[in-house]
Amino acid sequence: MTKGKVDALLGIVFGDEGKGKVVDFFTPHYDVVARFAGGPNAGHTIIFDGRKFVLRSIPSGIFDAGKLNIIGNGCVLAPDLFMAEARELEAAGYTLTDRLHISRRAHLILPTHRVLDRAYEAAKGKNKVGTTGKGIGPTYSDKAARTGLRVGDILGNFNEKYAALKARHEQILRDLHFTDYDITEEEARWMEGVDYLRKFHLTDTEHEINRYLAEGKNVLAEGAQGSLLDIDHGTYPFVSSSSTTSGGVCTGLGVAPGSIGRVWGVFKAYSTRVGAGPFPVELFDETGDTIRRIGNEFGAVTGRNRRCGWIDLVALRYAIMVNGVTDLVMMKSDVLDGFETIKVCTAYRKDGVTLTDMPYDTEGCEPVYEELPGWQTPLGALRREEDFPPAFKAYIDYLERALATPIRIISVGPDREATIVRNL
Ligand code: GDP
Ligand code: IMO
Ligand code: MG
Repeated sequence: MTKGKVDALLGIVFGDEGKGKVVDFFTPHYDVVARFAGGPNAGHTIIFDGRKFVLRSIPSGIFDAGKLNIIGNGCVLAPDLFMAEARELEAAGYTLTDRLHISRRAHLILPTHRVLDRAYEAAKGKNKVGTTGKGIGPTYSDKAARTGLRVGDILGNFNEKYAALKARHEQILRDLHFTDYDITEEEARWMEGVDYLRKFHLTDTEHEINRYLAEGKNVLAEGAQGSLLDIDHGTYPFVSSSSTTSGGVCTGLGVAPGSIGRVWGVFKAYSTRVGAGPFPVELFDETGDTIRRIGNEFGAVTGRNRRCGWIDLVALRYAIMVNGVTDLVMMKSDVLDGFETIKVCTAYRKDGVTLTDMPYDTEGCEPVYEELPGWQTPLGALRREEDFPPAFKAYIDYLERALATPIRIISVGPDREATIVRNL
């Protein structure tokens, strides 16, 4: 909400914190909403007026007719999936071409990137990352290797460049003995998607955003994935391939560090993780199943079970530090309504040592818990902080103290309306 600034809204754990819902809720307070990282590995759910949308590449500000949405240079885009997503919104009555600008510097996900994603996962055997299969890793690898194709390339001599990169991928696939695939139909749809993409404003969005900032307008940078999936700060190698933390906003939109205003850190009242990798607070018991069932913790992109556990303050403190989170947003508080007691992981134990700072490797870390009383009252219908049950207030106060950061927004249900603003 800071004028002339970019506020960042980031998932600060393992993704799926509810970023889409909060971005949609905040959009009336911003002039522009921009995605700066990731691609269709994201699944951001927005529910209002009895309708539900899951957005993958399109920013969650798209439901507010007056607002400009931007897919920034740090993103990767699959033209076929983008076309399907955009057409769904068009069918629901939202016009996009004037309100959605796409950076010419964003990288393209080719059908062969998706095959490579599968091939690399297959080659990893037991050490699979559990990717979404959307070609994210191979696309960012080509970007870093300076062999990628960008959105701007579709405006020039594209077919030749496409054929060259595809041939390169096919060679790698042969080397990996991964030849049992057929992308004929997928490729036809992808090419249709490229034509569809040409209808949009494919611009130099970094100039556009900086012009808006100079005019005193404000921008909300919508994060994707979560801080612990960041290529540098996450649980490497079980991470995604982009910079999902606040530094990624600068590189992913072309804005200076001094342009960043508030950093909103979104987290759930408990923890989840999709895909493989260490997750010290994971519950394998009935409690974990209960959280999964009540929280409906099944992936928005792949439908996979999300792994569930209690809240992890070691991870949250780390994420608050590396992002410079100024304000917290707590989601899905209602999911914990029925528990008699609620556990909070305050530290890890590894090799007989207690760790309160996030270690290099969390594999083998055991959680150290404190137990707090549950509120055992349904929160879903509450809209005012004054009506919160005392044990829920105590949970909020405890987290604010432990994280040394104010919790400004509390979500008590999936609908846009089930959102309580405090001390903003
Ligand atoms: P994102 O990727 O961070 O945007 O989050 P997802 O959309 O993948 O996952 C969040 C899920 O929780 C979605 O199904 C939302 O509809 C739902 N959700 C969001 N906020 C709340 C909440 O406060 N309570 C409940 N019960 N569900 C919520
Ligand atoms: P949103 O934006 C949760 C996870 C995958 C896998 C790892 C790498 O909806 O929060 P990738 O396909 O990116 O190479 O997969 O990252 N992952 C996510 N988990 N939410 C997401 O996005 C995710 N995007 C990727 O499950 O473990
Ligand atoms: Mg999601």
